[in-house]
Order: sequence, then C-alpha cells, then structure tokens
Amino acid sequence: MNSPAPLLPGSTLGVLGGGQLGRMLAIVARRMGYRIVAWTDGPDAGPADLADEVVAEAFSSPEALAAFLAKAEAATVEFENIPQSLLDAVAERIPLLPGAASVAVCQHREREKRFLERAGLPRVRFSVVSDPSELRTALATLPESGGILKTAEFGYDGKGQLAVSADSDPDSVWTGFAGSRAVLEERIDLAAELSVLVVRDRRGGMLAYDPVENFHRDHILDLSLAPARLEPRILDEARSIALAAAEALDYRGILAVEFFLAGDGQLLVNEMAPRPHNSGHHTIDACDTSQFEQQLRVLCGLAPGSTRLHSPAAMLNLLGDVWIAAGGCPDWASVAALPGAHLHLYGKHEARRGRKMGHLTFTAPSLGEALAAQARAREILGIPAAAI
Ligand SMILES: Nc1ncnc2c1ncn2[C@@H]1O[C@H](COP(=O)(O)OP(=O)(O)O)[C@@H](O)[C@H]1O
Ligand SMILES: [Mg+2]
Repeated sequence: MNSPAPLLPGSTLGVLGGGQLGRMLAIVARRMGYRIVAWTDGPDAGPADLADEVVAEAFSSPEALAAFLAKAEAATVEFENIPQSLLDAVAERIPLLPGAASVAVCQHREREKRFLERAGLPRVRFSVVSDPSELRTALATLPESGGILKTAEFGYDGKGQLAVSADSDPDSVWTGFAGSRAVLEERIDLAAELSVLVVRDRRGGMLAYDPVENFHRDHILDLSLAPARLEPRILDEARSIALAAAEALDYRGILAVEFFLAGDGQLLVNEMAPRPHNSGHHTIDACDTSQFEQQLRVLCGLAPGSTRLHSPAAMLNLLGDVWIAAGGCPDWASVAALPGAHLHLYGKHEARRGRKMGHLTFTAPSLGEALAAQARAREILGIPAAAI
C-alpha cells in the first residue's frame, strides 16, 4: 500500500459515532492540535460535545454525509454498528481506518466467527440459526452447561443475548428473541476472561499491549486489571492470537480481541472490536501511549507510540446505577482522595441502570494496591464487590 503523506496537527479528523470512545479520542485530538468532526447518528450527543464540530443527523442523511465529507480529511469509527453503505461511501472519498471490510467482520457475529474459522483461530463452538427449526437442531447439540443465543447484529453489553439449554423450547425461545438471525454458542466454563489490544499501522507494522484480565457483571464489563494475573504461557498465546487476527484481517488501526480462558486451559476468541475498547481505558493513565492516541496516530499516518504499561492498574466501570444509588451526584470528593485515582466521566446527562457513564482507573506501584483502592471506591459508591 502506498502511504500518503501523514496528516499533521491542524488537520480535521472525522469520527463516526457519538459515544464516549469518540469523546476520549477528541480529548487526545485537542491535546495534539487536531480538530474532530463527530457524526452522531442523532441529536442525543452528550459525549460528542468535546468534538470541534458535531453533525447531529441520522446516518441515513445524504446532506449529513456531504457535510461530514466536506470537513473530514480522514475518518474512523468509535462504534461498529455503522451501516456498510455509509462506510463504503466515506471510504470512497477519504481514508477510512479501519477499513469497511474489517468493520463488516467485527460488526456481525456470524461473519466474525466464520472469519475466525477461516483464519484457524480458536473460537467457541457455534451454530447459526435463523428460525425455530434450525434452533431445535442447534439446541440438541448443546452440552450440559447450556448455551447462549446471541443476535448476529447490533448486540453490545449483553444486549440481544439469551441463556438457553438443550431442554429449552425452540418456539418460545425464538418468539421471545429479538432478532432474525442468531448465533448459538456453547456456554463456556470460564476460568478467566482477558483481552488484547493490537495496533496495526498503515504499513502493517504491529504492536500489542499487555493482556488485560476482565471481570463482568450481568454481561457488562465491571473491572479490568493490568497486568493480567495469568500464566505467561497463556498471555503469550493470547498476544500471538490477537496479532494473527489483526494480520488476517489486514487491519489498520486499533483492534480489541476478547478471549475466554476455559476451565480446561484452552484460550478461545470471544469477539473482536474494530476500535478502542472499554478494557483498554487503563491505557490512558497506565501506559506510555493511550489506545485513543494510537487510533489517532494510525489514522494520521504517524508512527504508533510505545504500548508499555508503566504502572499496574485497576479500571472500574461507573454505570448509571452509581448515580441511582447516590440519589444524585456521587461522592466524588471521597473517591478523588483515594491513592492513584483517575476519574473519567463521559458527560452523559441521564443515568440509567447498566449505562456506562464513566470509569475510574487506579494506578499504583503494585496491582495489590490498585485493587485495594478500587475496593474502597466500590464501598463509597455502593458498587458490589468484584468477582475476583
Ligand atoms: N459462550 C459463553 N460462555 C460463557 N460466558 C459467556 C459466553 N458468551 C458471553 N459470555 C459472557 O457475557 C459477556 C458478554 O458477552 P459478549 O459475547 O462479549 O457480548 P457483548 O457484545 O455484549 O460484549 C462475556 O464477556 C462473558 O462474560
Ligand atoms: Mg464482549
């Protein structure tokens, strides 16, 4: 690939999506002297308010596309559920990183699983189902641990997922399931969950961050720990699988690869995200270069920065539940007094249960100290103890 001249500070970068990932990219862009135009797909653009310009129109609007393209010199995504036709239309006019084909794989569970199969990467056993009779056949193959039915498209934070077992009635499951095509996965007996962020530049040069250990509650990420407390053999394997996935996708930008570590010691790829990832938020405070700066660097054709973890870190997600428990503004003053606390709030106006409103990263000389500080924050904020 012929590399065009890098986009230097002063350039305007386009972001598709209006959530917190675009907001954190905008913060880096401002620091480095770039401008951001964010296209939000609608009027509710709380997190996008840090962009220099916001196109608050639906992704289907041709006028909005024209306005976006008139300003952006290159574009990226902060959210994978962007219509393919829009990705193609943007990529026709300006550089789009990651490319539309990579986003297409990561936004659709069936395509993603088929990609993993083709690339020979370890994944959860699955069947694709599109009606009750296919579901009946697929349910019969489930092990005793049961399975999880997941919508092929538009799922996130456990939305569009249903726990099922070999005895479930396919007709009633299908009627209660919002989706026309789904993937039925075997439920894995999880020893751990981890994720690896890979940066792949325009020439195909790659770097990986240290794997992160993740804990979920109600299918939503609750806590991430860096470094992960797992055997070096597992960490090395996760890193090499993530690099192989980025290579096989011919990826450009920052890619997150989520893994399950099964009880029998096998590592399986769960899913991939074609963008910065919630489990990489610690990189802002604990690594030489944040995942958002890497996204900007690759988009602009600058060299990726060092991925070194300079400080152990524990990242705690702040869901709307925290505001609801406090009956208003949580006690940030007490949280700020904890050692190594870095508070990040996303500017969302309405706190709803399960909605990601911000996160807290605790950096410390040791992971044990970071864990102790996050446990204190949970007590202050009324967040249940982590399942560590
Ligand atoms: N097959 C599975 N076996 C065991 N746990 C699962 C399985 N699929 C999902 N989970 C749990 O649910 C979480 C969210 O599921 P995931 O497929 O990553 O969807 P999302 O797009 O919502 O992140 C996982 O991180 C894991 O904790
Ligand atoms: Mg996930």
